[in-house]
Amino acid sequence: MGQIKACLFDLDGVIVDTAKYHYIAWKELANELGFEFSLEDNERLKGVSRMASLNILLEIGGITLNEEEKVRLAEKKNDNYRTFILKMQPNEILAGAREFLEELKARGIKVALGSASKNAMTILERLQLTELFEAIIDGTKVSEAKPNPEVFLKGAAALNVAPSECVVFEDAEAGVEAALAGQMKCVGIGSPSVLGKAHLVIDGLHQMTYEKLMELN
Ligand code: BG6
Ligand code: MG
Repeated sequence: MGQIKACLFDLDGVIVDTAKYHYIAWKELANELGFEFSLEDNERLKGVSRMASLNILLEIGGITLNEEEKVRLAEKKNDNYRTFILKMQPNEILAGAREFLEELKARGIKVALGSASKNAMTILERLQLTELFEAIIDGTKVSEAKPNPEVFLKGAAALNVAPSECVVFEDAEAGVEAALAGQMKCVGIGSPSVLGKAHLVIDGLHQMTYEKLMELN
């Protein structure tokens, strides 16, 4: 059994709630295209890449578009989304996240980000969290989306640790599956009914401690 040496964090839904901004931007796009987009629909986009999210949205609206048109709409949505994240403040960090990251640093546990988002660097800068991550693997550095383990395997490699020495923190089912596919331990953030495959499920990082982390060993 591997000794835990590193923690890999998803960003959206684990460290910060960006889903509300994604929702506003996707909803505006749907409305422009002439259909409604609900909060329940938005749940389907968690952990899903930008283009895959657009495809789900278009499926909901029953709309078929060519690739060029899709790229244009994804950019439009992202421009709108970025107006929100560029205004984010450090007080939007989810409860307990900064404290847990700092505790890990103090205990000598390595920390990396493993996010599907191409906006991850901007968000970490806005939240003043960048310097707490030794490695940042985001949507600009991977070719395979979760549940493929690529993002976490690259994180482990960047930290120079074995996958079996890593614990992943994830709020999306596909992210939990990615962690398990990478032979890593996983802590789910959210509901046990959705994240039941994780080794431990908690409501948020405010419930996480170094002792609970060591119990996963
Ligand atoms: C994930 C979010 O972290 O990043 C998804 O959970 C989002 O909802 C995806 O679609 C891609 O984000 P971005 O910032 O590259 O559009
Ligand atoms: Mg997430």
